[in-house]
Amino acid sequence: MKIEELRKKAQKELNLIVNIEELKEFERKYLGKEGEITKILKSLKDLPQEERRKIGKTANELREYLEEKIEEKEREIKLKEIEEKEKQEVIDITIPGKKIETGHLHPLTLVKEKVEEIFMSLGFSVVEGPEIETEWYNFDALNIPKDHPARDMWDTFWIKSQISNVKCQSRKTKKKPNLLLRTHTSPVQIRYMEKHNPPLKIIAPGRIFRYEATDASHEINFYQVEGLMIDKDVSVANFVGIMEKFFEAFFGKGTQIRLRPSYFPFTEPSFEIDVTCSICRGKGCSVCSYRGWIELAGAGMVHPNVLKAVKLNPKNWQGFAFGLGLDRLTMIKYKINDIRLFYSGDLRFLKQF
Ligand code: DAH
Repeated sequence: MKIEELRKKAQKELNLIVNIEELKEFERKYLGKEGEITKILKSLKDLPQEERRKIGKTANELREYLEEKIEEKEREIKLKEIEEKEKQEVIDITIPGKKIETGHLHPLTLVKEKVEEIFMSLGFSVVEGPEIETEWYNFDALNIPKDHPARDMWDTFWIKSQISNVKCQSRKTKKKPNLLLRTHTSPVQIRYMEKHNPPLKIIAPGRIFRYEATDASHEINFYQVEGLMIDKDVSVANFVGIMEKFFEAFFGKGTQIRLRPSYFPFTEPSFEIDVTCSICRGKGCSVCSYRGWIELAGAGMVHPNVLKAVKLNPKNWQGFAFGLGLDRLTMIKYKINDIRLFYSGDLRFLKQF
C-alpha cells in the first residue's frame, strides 16, 4: 500500500475514534512493534538506496504526523470526559448548610462577669493574684502563724519543689519560701496592699484549691471572689450597705442579708453573711434547710496585724474584707445541686447555659 493511501486510511480511522481504548488500539496498529508504519521502516533495508531514502522520508513524516495526531486526540477525549462529568454533576443550592457549632461561656464565668459588673458599678477595681502562693502570703501575712490551729481551717496542697525565683516577702527568714496552691483568694489582699496605697476598693476573683474528699458540695478546686475596702474610717455599716446593694443587684429586689458572728484570723470582728434564699424567697425550702437563709460569704473588719504585715498603720487605716463563694453563688442562681458538674466537662450540663 502506498504511504499516501496509508495516511488517508489512518486519518479516516482516527476521525472515528471516541475513547482512549480505541486510540490505544489505533496506535498499536500503526506505530506498534508490528504496526503498519513500523513494518515499512523495517523493510527499508531491502530497498535500493534511492527508494530507501524517498520512502524512508515519507514514512518517517507519516510516523511523526500520526504521533502528533494521537496526542491531540488524547487531549480531546480527556477534555470531553471532564465536560461530560461536569454536566452530570448537579449542585443543589437549596440543601440547607451545616451549622457551625459555637461555644459559649461556662456558668461560673457568666456569674463571675456579673459579679465584676456589679462591683465595678459600686466603684471597685478587679484585680488578680497567682494560684501558686507562698506560705507567707497564704497564711502568715493573714495573721495565721505556723502551728496555729487556725491553719486547720484550710486543707492545703503543699508543693514539694521550691522555685527559686518566686519573690519572697517573708522578711523574717532568708530561706526559700514554702509553696502551696492557694487555699483562698485572701492573699491577693496582701499582694495588692504591698503595691498600692489606700484608700482602695478591690475585688479579686480566682481559682482556689483544697485538699479535700469530693462530694456534691466539695471540690478540690473552686472559685472565690475576695473583696477589700480600706480607707480612713470605713465601718461595718459601709460594709452592710455594699453587700445589700450587691446581693439585691445579683438576686433581685427584696433580697435581704444578715450578719452572724464568726471567726477568721484575718478579721476582727468577723462574720458570716446570710442572704434570703432566692429559691423560696425566705419561706423555707430544702435548699436552705428550711431556714429561709443561705450562707454565702465570710467577712469582717481587717485585723490590725494584717495591716501591719503590709506596713500600714492600723491607727490611720481601717476597712472590711470579704470572701464570696462563686460556685455556691452560681449553684443557687441556676439551681444546681452538685458542684462537681462545673468541672466534669459534661456537655449535657454545659449546653443548658
Ligand atoms: N478566706 C476565707 C476562706 O477561704 C474567706 C474569707 C473570710 C475572706 C473572711 C475574707 C474575710 O476576706 O474577711 O474561708
